[in-house]
Parts: sequence; structure tokens; C-alpha cells
Amino acid sequence: MIVLVGFMGAGKTTVGRLLAARLALPFTDTDHVVEEREGRPIPATFTALGEEGFRDLEERAVADVLAGPEAVVSLGGGACGRAATRERLRAHTVVHLRVSLEQTRARTAGDTSRPVLQRPDLPALHAARQLLYDEVATVAVPTDGRTAEQVARDVLALIEQHAEQHRTAPDPEDR
Ligand code: S3P
Repeated sequence: MIVLVGFMGAGKTTVGRLLAARLALPFTDTDHVVEEREGRPIPATFTALGEEGFRDLEERAVADVLAGPEAVVSLGGGACGRAATRERLRAHTVVHLRVSLEQTRARTAGDTSRPVLQRPDLPALHAARQLLYDEVATVAVPTDGRTAEQVARDVLALIEQHAEQHRTAPDPEDR
């Protein structure tokens, strides 16, 4: 599984779709899984169940998707807050799409679909989450000032490089 993590506005969904197309894999966005299961948009779930209620649904959705068929998967920006999710991610290729808070604000200006953007402690949240993303990431790719196409190309190159470095040397007995 190739899993994209990162703060809001990092481009996880857009880059994820591009990667899935290049790799001929299905694409799944866990936010969409939660929305489909709930039959309502995320802000409505936040209102009805509170943030922790949403996090429970999100954790379940991520676990189910990670246990499913091979795919490119993008996680909501807060999903790595759950220790159980971070543990599950250890079995997968995880890409941190790095985005500055300034770029997040620019890319999400006027967005009302992400309740967490309204939090007054957004800078602290952004800083704290970087540690969690880096904890689970196999590779990290900067996205500030870059197009989704450029980012997708960088991700593919880094994943390939990482696989190359970790490919076990052929056993001489097999020759
Ligand atoms: C959230 C990010 C959103 C979505 C929800 C909460 C967060 O996903 O899961 O609004 O806490 O950062 P994106 O990162 O895809 O915007």
C-alpha cells in the first residue's frame, strides 16, 4: 500500500490520484470512506459526534482500507494522531507530503469543508503533527511552490530509490 499523509492542503488527494493512475492502482481517500459510511459530509459528522466521534470513524475506515486490496491511499490530516493508526502504518510505504502552514492557508483560503482549519491553535497543531507524519513516513516530499505533477514525480522517484536501497542482495547460492 502507498499511503499519503500530511497536513491539510498538502495535496494528498490530488497527488494520490496522479500516483494511482501512474501505478495502475485504485485510489482511496479515507475522508471519502467516512463520508460514504456516514452519509453526510465531514463538518456534519463533527457537529453531530464531535471531533473524537469523527476520529473513531476515521480510525476504523483507515484500518479497513489498509487491510484491503493494494491501492494508493490518502489519509485525512489528523488520522496519524491515533497511535493505533501509526502502528498500522508501519507495514506500508508511507509518504509525508510536507506543506508549510503559510502554503496550507493559501491553498485552503475560503474553504469551509475542513472544521479543523478554524482552530485558533492551528500553528501549534501544524508543528505537532509534523513529528507524527515524520514518525510514520518512509519518505518525505516537499510540496510548497510545486505542482501536483512535480510532487507525484518526486514521490515515484523517491519510492523507487528507497525500494532499490532496501532490495536484498541476491543470494549467491541461487546463481
Ligand atoms: C482534518 C483533515 C481533513 C479531514 C477532517 C479533519 C484534520 O482531511 O479529515 O476535516 O484534522 O487535519 P484533509 O487533510 O484531506 O483535508
